[in-house]
Amino acid sequence: MDYMHWSIKQDENNICWLLFDYKDSATNILSTQALEELKDILEQINEAETQALIFKSMKSTGFIAGANINEFVGIDYQAALSLITLGHSVMNKIEAMKCTTISMIHGFCMGGGTELSLACDYIICSDDSATRLSLPEVKLGIHPGFGGSYRCIRRIGPLAAFDMMLTGRSINAKLAKKLKLVDEITAQRQLERAAIAFAAKKPVSRQQSIKNRLLNNTLIRGFLAKKITAKVAKKAAKKHYPAPYKLISLWLKYYDFPRKMLEKEAISVAELVADPSAQNLVRVYFLQEQLKSLGDKKLFKPLHIHVIGGGIMGGDIAAWCAYKGFQVSVQDQDPAILAKTIERAYQLFSKKLRDKRLISNTMDRLTADHKGYGVEHADIIIEAIFEDASVKQSLYQSIEPRMKKNAILATNTSSIPLETLASCLKKPGRLVGLHFFNPVALMPLVEIIHGEQSDKKTIKNIAAFSRHIDKLPLAVKSSPGFLVNRILMPYLLEAILMYAEGIPAEAIDKAALDFGMPMGPIELADTVGLDVCLSVANILAESYHKQVPEQLEHMVKTGYLGKKNNKGFYSYQNGKAQKDSTSSYRNMTDVQQRLILMLVNEATACLRDKIVDNEDLLDAGVIFGTGFAPFRGGPIKYIHDSGKHDLQVQMDGFKEQLGERFTQDNGWELV
Ligand code: NAI
Repeated sequence: MDYMHWSIKQDENNICWLLFDYKDSATNILSTQALEELKDILEQINEAETQALIFKSMKSTGFIAGANINEFVGIDYQAALSLITLGHSVMNKIEAMKCTTISMIHGFCMGGGTELSLACDYIICSDDSATRLSLPEVKLGIHPGFGGSYRCIRRIGPLAAFDMMLTGRSINAKLAKKLKLVDEITAQRQLERAAIAFAAKKPVSRQQSIKNRLLNNTLIRGFLAKKITAKVAKKAAKKHYPAPYKLISLWLKYYDFPRKMLEKEAISVAELVADPSAQNLVRVYFLQEQLKSLGDKKLFKPLHIHVIGGGIMGGDIAAWCAYKGFQVSVQDQDPAILAKTIERAYQLFSKKLRDKRLISNTMDRLTADHKGYGVEHADIIIEAIFEDASVKQSLYQSIEPRMKKNAILATNTSSIPLETLASCLKKPGRLVGLHFFNPVALMPLVEIIHGEQSDKKTIKNIAAFSRHIDKLPLAVKSSPGFLVNRILMPYLLEAILMYAEGIPAEAIDKAALDFGMPMGPIELADTVGLDVCLSVANILAESYHKQVPEQLEHMVKTGYLGKKNNKGFYSYQNGKAQKDSTSSYRNMTDVQQRLILMLVNEATACLRDKIVDNEDLLDAGVIFGTGFAPFRGGPIKYIHDSGKHDLQVQMDGFKEQLGERFTQDNGWELV
């Protein structure tokens, strides 16, 4: 019988090769259709007297990417349960096969792909750097749902399994072997031979190590579950991200009853996936894919990057580009700053790469270039000097004659209109904004700012470059504050106003954290630097007729600059804000609403001003540029989910109570 996505090859050793080649797709996915076909195939193979069954991918990129996430969109509990039950029945069939079953992995193996492998007797994989195994479901607000939660814990023990399942991180072949997740790793060219050798073995009944048996023991399990839960609670609140808590509870309650645990796993994932939190995280996944598609790597790959300004941003941008494989020179007018830049880069590489040889190779790609010789060789020059239009312009005038004919000039300005900066250039089309966020290594977004004068090809090329350095590009119209800072600023200023009213900084930050923000606005302002906040606020206030709180001006005037000089709204010791854990405030709901309404109101204003092309891109920008509570799906999605009318009524209430700044923007009409 012919199948759409699978084919069967029986070889002379009586081994059945099950070849997965998902139709019309670059990657293999376990869609309902692929699972149904597989179920049918497994029944046939079980009838025949086959020696072994080997799963093999026909895609060059990887093994299996997991379930079909498209099927999760808008799914209800019943539909989710039947999809998951189908997955379970397939994995149970694989596990119960009479013959030896082997999963043969090269390239990525994610989610359902790892769960399918866990149901096999043996897992072998190539030692290639592209080979990575993961169970990343938690990132989508769910947990493994094709039997993987039980089977992963059984195979590698609870500590390693929870580390994989709760972080969603992928592991390489070497680590997978060390954890006994895979039975063998080998060079890719020997992979089939290794699979055939395993095919001659009998199915195994795996014995858990004494340590893992102990850790899974009822008594210790209770204690360990508490510890793991406490660790999770530091990162993700239960009411916002229920999945990790449900996963731990499954293990705690049912690990001694495997069938029951599998049944309960299916119910748990069906409940989770239909929940708004997971639905929004699925949305965020697709938004991320959308941003990725905005930069086409094939279009352009520069060879040499020259960064001017080795300060907070320039230094980190230079290091990041070198880490991502580019030849980089970094220039600063102050050699002492350059020395610090190189030292910070070394710290980044050491943390990320760990391997001495890799660290030294990466250091070799980064050159301190006080005199700026790199200008003449660079395909892209990234400027990250002081935020001052005339300083930037005089730099541009001095470097333009030395730049390569087609080199791009990218500025990291956070507020100056591109048109102003470009006016001094002979070729204004070559200037584009490439706005990174702080800290560069952690923030996934870059805003690609295009002015009236920007050349279309330059914009496309810089978006391609963003993908080469693994950032998510978002095309944003040149206007004060661009997208992210413009939306963030009213929220920060409202926080400062509340502080000036006497509401404790700790309470204001807590209200934002409770909403799901990664950091409170007061601590964020301190981290960005109060002088930087003030200068951006002044520019935005002038353009959008807003008021800058006197409190902020006063603090900057009196030398309160935030974390960088250890005194801001908080005082800092060893880089840590000293918070008063006893401080509280009675009306936390109002605090939270004031903050969030200011933010979403400005988001609607950006829609009205067409700063980005549509609602989805706006939500994507705010999530990936500020860390806006991902489980809420972005500010515009938040308006839809909370009810536009209800939020408008709240705005009106605050307007009456607190003043004109709560006036609804006309952009609400577009939502
Ligand atoms: P910074 O003050 O830490 O670094 C600026 C560096 O540029 C200094 O080391 C200075 O010596 C050097 N410099 C100034 N003029 C120069 C010249 N003519 N030639 C060579 N070097 C020169 O500033 P930071 O924070 O890194 O900001 C740089 C740019 O990035 C600004 O345009 C800022 O608006 C933007 N930005 C800043 C963010 C932040 O969080 N700090 C976030 C996003 C953008």
